[in-house]
Amino acid sequence: MSAQIIDGKQVSTEVRERVADEVAEFIAGGGHQPVLATVLVGDDPASHVYVANKLKACKAAGIGSVHHELPAETNQRDLITLVRALGDDDGIDGILVQLPPPDHIDADAVIAAINPAKDVDGLTATNAGLLAGGRPGLVPCTPAGVIELLDHAGTELEGAEAVIVGRSNLVGRPLISLLLGRNATVTAAHSRTRDLPAVCQRADVLVAAVGVPGLLGAEHVKPGATVIDVGINRTDDGLKGDVDFDQVVEVAGAITPVPGGVGPMTIAMLMANTLEAARARSLAKVWG
Ligand code: GUN
Repeated sequence: MSAQIIDGKQVSTEVRERVADEVAEFIAGGGHQPVLATVLVGDDPASHVYVANKLKACKAAGIGSVHHELPAETNQRDLITLVRALGDDDGIDGILVQLPPPDHIDADAVIAAINPAKDVDGLTATNAGLLAGGRPGLVPCTPAGVIELLDHAGTELEGAEAVIVGRSNLVGRPLISLLLGRNATVTAAHSRTRDLPAVCQRADVLVAAVGVPGLLGAEHVKPGATVIDVGINRTDDGLKGDVDFDQVVEVAGAITPVPGGVGPMTIAMLMANTLEAARARSLAKVWG
């Protein structure tokens, strides 16, 4: 039997509408309009599309935005100076530096310059450490979106076997903590894992986040498992996920498509994080 298709477009629309309502309530209750600052360095066409979509989503949610577009030859010191200034600017609640930056810029050094209270990507050492310690903080958008999709699909996480393939700072590592926080039994698989099909076969929840088109096939999936495909790979045949959808849809209980699965969730969760950062900054002003 064919799996339930988890519709990321629908879930992301629901999250964005919820955030828009909450932004309006926050402002009506005396809060300030949340503001996101985006920083884009260079000419990567995909990055330009992503940032344009983020700015559009801000507008629709009633969130203000300030966009900084810098030439590809911008040096690291100037970029860090800008990121620090945004961190000190009381009119800014969230800072998003679009990744990856051009090759001559060290992304880690730029991330380290982001004020953790405004780190709506959840990438600073402060927020990554809070998440790893099971404490509240700003959570990276894509893994937060994965959890929303699992909840929407009604997938039981308590006690479930969850296997994450991929260990990136943006997705795999934060997901380990998020799923542990929901009391799943978590396995982190990666490029050196021996017998990947056997490890994946254990999963009630299988998440693919490696960036290798079609890596996971039917032989990796336990019948009835929920399969979340975070991969967005540009191939000659168009956008492909890390999961061979046509094979796996016949085995899984539920599956996200690519495109239209995890992708739309990232922006929705960015809106949610920007509101969360604005609320927390507003409370910090009251209580110190
Ligand atoms: N590039 C690809 N995904 C992301 C993301 O989630 N945040 C940022 N800042 N850049 C990205």
